[in-house]
Amino acid sequence: MKLNIAVLSGDGIGPEVTAQAIQSLKAIAEVYDHEFTFSEALVGAIAIDETGNPLPEETLDLCEASDAILFGAIGDPKYDNDPSAKVRPEQGLLRLRKSLGLYTNIRPVKAYETLLDKSPLKKEIIEGTDFTIYRELTGGIYFGKKSLSENGNEASDLCSYSVEEIERIAHLAFKAARNRNKKLTLVDKANVLETSRLWRKTVTEIGKSYEDVALDFLFVDNAAMQIILNPSQFDVILTENMFGDIISDEGSVIGGSIGLLASASVGDESALFEPIHGSYPQAKGKDIANPVASILSAAMLLEHFEMLDEAQLIREAVERSLALQIVTPDLDPDSTYGTAKVGEFIADFILNYDGELFINQDNISVGQSTII
Ligand code: IPM
Ligand code: MN
Repeated sequence: MKLNIAVLSGDGIGPEVTAQAIQSLKAIAEVYDHEFTFSEALVGAIAIDETGNPLPEETLDLCEASDAILFGAIGDPKYDNDPSAKVRPEQGLLRLRKSLGLYTNIRPVKAYETLLDKSPLKKEIIEGTDFTIYRELTGGIYFGKKSLSENGNEASDLCSYSVEEIERIAHLAFKAARNRNKKLTLVDKANVLETSRLWRKTVTEIGKSYEDVALDFLFVDNAAMQIILNPSQFDVILTENMFGDIISDEGSVIGGSIGLLASASVGDESALFEPIHGSYPQAKGKDIANPVASILSAAMLLEHFEMLDEAQLIREAVERSLALQIVTPDLDPDSTYGTAKVGEFIADFILNYDGELFINQDNISVGQSTII
């Protein structure tokens, strides 16, 4: 398969982790005889520094002309504590989501067997957790009308949703549930918010066409509690933009590190793949950032184009790196492996995979020819 991939590696650790995702994709292309081309463009704080715009026109043009987008991270501390900044890196990502119509954000949360003791939550609680959050991404309070009174003493952000906006993501979430464990939980605040009541009504209606999927509802405050009390009860969670933002960060502690969580943002025309962690500026250039979330985002990219074996091979390589403790310091503070070595192991595993694996433990430390 031929794919043109736009690479928007962005700020902080974005470029380092994205480089490792590209390595894995190149390895896959070689093994399966695909043709992937990678074209880079600016986004975020680095784009503001160079062009004054967090999403330059040519970046958007490249994304529109590409089959998929591999995204790194955006954000820079110099903007975080400056509420008066008129131009902010995050605007680049929000505009990109809106302009490309990426209305569904998919965030899988999984407790890896080999990492059960890395989570701050008890092993017994997280064991068996495997759910996916479907977060609406181009509506709600993020994109509603904003206002600030002239004297600066009053502000408002409008949360609004239309039936169409709810329907299109709900269908994708029901289809996903149908292919998984056939359970869909709508997370809302229908006891208080009018928009949530519209979500409930619309999703209940759509649920009638997916009779094989069990639909239930949770208020977001209760959901926030259930995710850490009993996360294995969930299969697919469907929710609006802001609730999804919050509960997906919460879900990230289950796996032991936010550095493991991948995501896909899809629309009818475009698809973007991005680790859910931020730009982690403190780690920039130190070769300590976990590349796994970015590499797993590359696996989601392959899956999106129905390259299922290819995606599975990346996942297997990642699981093997975790099992062998070839991990960055967020997962093992004593680890001597950095971003590049972990990425190299994973790409190496892909290139050498022949269906049967024999790992030569002695060679692991040299970071190559680990599979014989
Ligand atoms: C995310 C991020 C973004 C969001 C920020 C960077 C605008 O937190 O992708 O979850 O809030 O959607
Ligand atoms: Mn977030």
